Amino acid sequence: MGADTSAAAKGKPRYRAVIVGCGKIGALFESEAKRAKPASHAGAVIQNPKTVLAALVDTNPKNLAAAGQMFPHAARYSSLSACLKNERPDIVVISTKKPSAEKDFIYASDNPMYRLTSKEAAKILTL
Ligand SMILES: NC(=O)c1ccc[n+]([C@@H]2O[C@H](COP(=O)([O-])OP(=O)(O)OC[C@H]3O[C@@H](n4cnc5c(N)ncnc54)[C@H](O)[C@@H]3O)[C@@H](O)[C@H]2O)c1
Repeated sequence: MGADTSAAAKGKPRYRAVIVGCGKIGALFESEAKRAKPASHAGAVIQNPKTVLAALVDTNPKNLAAAGQMFPHAARYSSLSACLKNERPDIVVISTKKPSAEKDFIYASDNPMYRLTSKEAAKILTL
């Protein structure tokens, strides 16, 4: 077996990511056996050696609980503001739908180093 050359193994800092909106593309597609992996933003974050899944955010307790079971090491929040305050993430993945996506993007854009957004928010921002 070869040496582990991942960022974690080399002791490099890993970017801390949070997922806002833990529905299908945010997290839940990861549990569907037929889908190629990673199938969700949360799945992509945990698969990348440069990133850590710090937290999951969703206003729907059922989706938050389902995502939390799939990614048990991530903290869980029902509000983005509380998450940003506590977690100070480097990356915020917004996978909510309009109009939440728009508000969340504008709010998050003051805080993190990097941002990734949903199609809906991107459309709004390029107008
Ligand atoms: N489903 C897909 O295949 C797919 C693919 C690419 C992009 N997208 C885009 O991703 C976005 C989400 O799509 P989806 O299919 O995963 O939707 P979804 O309805 O399955 O998930 C959206 C989640 O966001 C949560 N949410 C809503 N308002 C919130 C808020 N204020 N704070 C935190 N969470 C909140 C909902 O409770 C839900 O769990 C859409 O903009 C969609 O266009 C979807």
